[in-house]
Amino acid sequence: MSALLEVDQLSIRFGGLVAVNEVSFTVGHGEIRCIIGPNGAGKSTLFNLISGIYPPSAGTVRLDGLDITGMAAHRVAAAGIARTFQSSRLFNELTLIDNVVVGMHARTRTGVLDALFRPRRSRAELDGAADEAGRIIRSVSEELYRRRHSMAGSLPQADRRRLEIARALASQPKLIMLDEPSSGMDDRDTDALIRDIGAVMAEQPKLSFILIEHDMRLVAALPGQVMVIDYGRKIAEGPFAEVRLVPRVQEAYLGSRAAHA
Ligand SMILES: Nc1ncnc2c1ncn2[C@@H]1O[C@H](COP(=O)(O)OP(=O)(O)OP(=O)(O)O)[C@@H](O)[C@H]1O
Ligand SMILES: [Mg+2]
Repeated sequence: MSALLEVDQLSIRFGGLVAVNEVSFTVGHGEIRCIIGPNGAGKSTLFNLISGIYPPSAGTVRLDGLDITGMAAHRVAAAGIARTFQSSRLFNELTLIDNVVVGMHARTRTGVLDALFRPRRSRAELDGAADEAGRIIRSVSEELYRRRHSMAGSLPQADRRRLEIARALASQPKLIMLDEPSSGMDDRDTDALIRDIGAVMAEQPKLSFILIEHDMRLVAALPGQVMVIDYGRKIAEGPFAEVRLVPRVQEAYLGSRAAHA
């Protein structure tokens, strides 16, 4: 079976800067891929190219055999890619449930507000959606589920990041891309996140993940290949045990002393 995501020679230029430079990789069905690399390396920009925020200057992106290169973000979402952003984008004045209901409509163009403020006759449908949203939240975290009727704005940072994952799952994606899901988390929260991701993978064995991560504990704990981006280029790819030995990775994440350990 061919890969779910095939990225070939993808590039984008911003003026004189080639922020993503001829990057190629694939992600298989049910596979999890971590992307690491120094600040400003081009990791988030790579997500923006794949998810249709920016059209690439060159290269192609295929999802499940469909060429999605240069498609608008809502069409990429409809094709089956969900993502989170480096900075949280929740609706603080909505409950956890309603934030996830919004996510369910990410694959249809009739969007967000429509879903929440529709006329009374569709109330039953909306209640169904609320039940489904609750089920999705619960699949990510029992603890989060207990707070499902709270406003998203009341959540601590770690729970906000988890709710974003639940919202991304709500669109029933084939591929979910998480941009630094552990940012703002302490070690305990990160351990919980590792368990949450494991739970989602166990429940949806065909769902694929790409994670941008700076926390090497999380990267080491996840299965699958790790890809290193530096100055817009892919400089290494392989299991974390191998990639961690790359000098640039040692420098960026593990401290130069670790190189001699
Ligand atoms: N819209 C844009 N216009 C111009 N330059 C941009 C744009 N978006 C990103 N860049 C530049 O592209 C480079 C890569 O940025 P990007 O945000 O992808 O890095 P990153 O690897 O995600 O870094 P971090 O780990 O800090 O999040 C940076 O030099 C950034 O300033
Ligand atoms: Mg980034």
